[in-house]
Amino acid sequence: MARIGIFFGTETGRTRLIAKQIAKKLGDEAAAPLNVAKAAPEDLLAYEVLILGTPTLGDGELPGLATGLPQESWAEFVKKIQSLDLGGKIVALYGLGEQEKYGEHFVSALKPLHDAFRDAGATLVGHWPVDGYAFSSSAAVEDGHFLGLALDQISQPALTAERVDSWLEQIKPSFPA
Ligand SMILES: Cc1cc2nc3c(=O)[nH]c(=O)nc-3n(C[C@H](O)[C@H](O)[C@H](O)COP(=O)(O)O)c2cc1C
Repeated sequence: MARIGIFFGTETGRTRLIAKQIAKKLGDEAAAPLNVAKAAPEDLLAYEVLILGTPTLGDGELPGLATGLPQESWAEFVKKIQSLDLGGKIVALYGLGEQEKYGEHFVSALKPLHDAFRDAGATLVGHWPVDGYAFSSSAAVEDGHFLGLALDQISQPALTAERVDSWLEQIKPSFPA
């Protein structure tokens, strides 16, 4: 049975596409990616490792009803995981954003996603260096690193494949044996 669960939120589908690419690279170990709009919090419990993707919408926000989505997404889902015990789960985040147009809040939604899973007891891995990006501020930067993999499919699409590959190699040693 797959031990890696991949969950994503999305508005226009880019974050879903990356989820599918990650699943393909991980092979049999990963389950088919699931939109959190269709997931229940308990679905997270089936996996040892969780890879979670989110775009940043609004002014540095998680996708959800408040950012204009027609259905619930991460903004609502993170509130529902507060009662879960995710102790022992390895969680890695990736975030999509646009650094040229939204450089004040580049991939900032990684921060509330990170904090929600940390507060539920998960072990967060996969911080990613800020080198190679140009933005003015981000809520998702700590100690010169994003709280997950930052991807920009609008300003830097050509860099995505290599970033995903390097990040997966970086996080794989954190997976349980
Ligand atoms: C209304 C709107 C607001 C956005 N706000 C931000 C933002 O604050 N920070 C950021 O990095 N990107 C922002 N973006 C860019 C999106 O994160 C980017 O287009 C992303 O690829 C969308 O992913 P999706 O196709 O999975 O929805 C915004 C995009 C839109 C349309």
